[in-house]
Amino acid sequence: MTDHQPTPDGVLRLINGYWATGVVGAAAAHSLFTHLEDGAGTAAELADRAGIALRGAQTLLDGLVSVGLVELHEGRYRNTPEASVYLVDGKPTCLSGFAQLKLKHMGGLAGLPDVVRAGGPVQNATTEVADNPHWEEIVPAIAAQSVTAAGAAAEVLGLAGAGPVSILDVGGGSGVYSGIWLEANPAAHSTQLDWEPINAIARRLQEERGVGDRFTTVNGDFHTTDFGTARYDIALYSHIAHQEGAEDNIAVFSRLREALKPGGALVVCDYVVDDDRGGPALPLIFASEMLLKSKRGGTWRRSDYHEWLVKAGFTSVTFHSAPPATLVIAR
Ligand SMILES: C[S@@+](CC[C@H](N)C(=O)[O-])C[C@H]1O[C@@H](n2cnc3c(N)ncnc32)[C@H](O)[C@@H]1O
Repeated sequence: MTDHQPTPDGVLRLINGYWATGVVGAAAAHSLFTHLEDGAGTAAELADRAGIALRGAQTLLDGLVSVGLVELHEGRYRNTPEASVYLVDGKPTCLSGFAQLKLKHMGGLAGLPDVVRAGGPVQNATTEVADNPHWEEIVPAIAAQSVTAAGAAAEVLGLAGAGPVSILDVGGGSGVYSGIWLEANPAAHSTQLDWEPINAIARRLQEERGVGDRFTTVNGDFHTTDFGTARYDIALYSHIAHQEGAEDNIAVFSRLREALKPGGALVVCDYVVDDDRGGPALPLIFASEMLLKSKRGGTWRRSDYHEWLVKAGFTSVTFHSAPPATLVIAR
């Protein structure tokens, strides 16, 4: 074999990608990253603190070293900086709930060959079923993913110093943006439109955060609920555009333009792909999730957002990085 001969390692790693989902999800379920952060550094110490078998702890540690989330240092295991920020329970950026949810979702991918043939969901299209319990599981689990984007958007909008602004969050989920924005600006007020059980979760979280008195919810379907006219300074549409097709996104953007005061800003946050569909990696592969779960969703290009927002009546559209997502700000 020459040096340039490919090896099967990379392909085998991808084919067995579910091992990584399994190991990370199981480690999260037993708070292994949290115990490592608190100083447990051997399989025996972790087994003891997590209440799992020694053989199980050693196997998870081997897997976590393999995927690069745990490292060995002078004979003891410790979190990598990435695991420390994103997988330790209680941190605002913690994705451990999401890791456990993805482990549960894994079986659904076995249907992807059929879904690809059909060009969409072969069973219920999750995102189109009104008031779907799916959201109650997913919404708290994905909240941490919006922390960086919410902070970045607040910076771009100059939100902290913007005075008594009114915000409309369409499909706000856990209300993570409202929480961060209302903390940043004590004069702001936010209204979230979502399904009733989700709004109940969001209200509880904003109460706990101490901003509940400036957080209002409206229950309903955003396709049909009236947004009003010239009522808001800022409208938000985060991780919603990917579940909708072009026509529905244009229709919502047009109604949001109406709902904004003159000079108001629409903030769209989503996994946006380059115009030639050459990257970025995570937004590109996320399209398969939307093929499985939505009738018309996908990961849309920058040029799609630009075209749709101009059609909806916005005159300025700018793009801002909030990895792995992109913020699209339209005025
Ligand atoms: C992927 S989550 C995004 C949550 C939040 N915006 C974020 O970025 O973290 C989608 C949210 O939209 C809500 N949603 C989906 N379809 C909806 C519809 N037709 N009407 C109202 N809310 C909807 C879901 O309940 C869920 O809270």
